[in-house]
Amino acid sequence: MKIKVLGSSAGGGFPQWNCNCRNCDGVRRRTIKAKPRTQSSIAVSVDGEEWLLINASPDLLAQIAANPEMQPARRVRDTGIAAVLVIDAQIDHVTGLLMLRERGRPLPLYATDAVWQDLTTGFPIGPILSHYCGVMHHPIALDGTPLNLAVLPRVVIEPVPLLSKAPPYSPHRDAPARGDNIGLTITNLDSGRRAFYAPGLGTLEPHVLEAMHAADLLLVDGTTWTDDEMIALGLSSKTAADMGHLAQSGKGGMIEVLDTIESSALRPVRKVLIHINNTNPILIEDGPERRVLSEHGIEVAEDGMTFEL
Ligand code: MLT
Ligand code: MN
Ligand code: ZN
Repeated sequence: MKIKVLGSSAGGGFPQWNCNCRNCDGVRRRTIKAKPRTQSSIAVSVDGEEWLLINASPDLLAQIAANPEMQPARRVRDTGIAAVLVIDAQIDHVTGLLMLRERGRPLPLYATDAVWQDLTTGFPIGPILSHYCGVMHHPIALDGTPLNLAVLPRVVIEPVPLLSKAPPYSPHRDAPARGDNIGLTITNLDSGRRAFYAPGLGTLEPHVLEAMHAADLLLVDGTTWTDDEMIALGLSSKTAADMGHLAQSGKGGMIEVLDTIESSALRPVRKVLIHINNTNPILIEDGPERRVLSEHGIEVAEDGMTFEL
């Protein structure tokens, strides 16, 4: 099983189009050691030809272009994207669905009922696409039933419900529903190895920690270094926690949490931060924050990174 990072940045991307923070300005002018990144998405494949797209980023077309293996070119019109799964209804995870409208057949879309509700009301991508390729919604159940998708033979996907909020345009924004946000455990039944993917992880409930401890690969919330990062830069009035994200540094932060997960030569665990906001100092490859991460055995995701499990 291959897992490919298509987009390692949080919403806005890196650099963000209208941002002149130290990082965005620095990467644009090449005055800092950092790589540009597109917005939040990964893809999973068993045969390297048929892919499950997990989250459809606003940068999807650039991501497809940057990953030619997602265009197997078997027919005059073709794609390696056999199905899409979205973990929430946020702009950075669903807008790319609109870019798939030229498909010849309805798009198989795996989403919880809460997310599908948002995608048929507050952000009506479902009804819009019904005028183009159409969408075939496959509900993700949260009753413990794992997903076995034809596109990923011998792979099991288990949704992990997360405590967070629906997007601002959701009709149930102020009444959080189970299924507004999920993480995923993705297991290769042949190797027995599993990945845990959660680009937004505000509250680490016991079942979430359990899923993290069982994983060989963690692709987890790398949004901000400090909780008040956006406020300190004068860019937002919201903390990371307000946005459903757990900052890396400080007490109870992601570094401390990842430190509790044992990695050994016998069972190496890769701990990788993903969904990195453009304000995050860990984007600077030779900076002190990146050194701290290395000391804790934590990696920073980049676009194009591939994991074999
Ligand atoms: C988030 O991860 O908090 C959201 O995607 C933010 C956004 O893109 O507006
Ligand atoms: Mn996001
Ligand atoms: Zn910026």
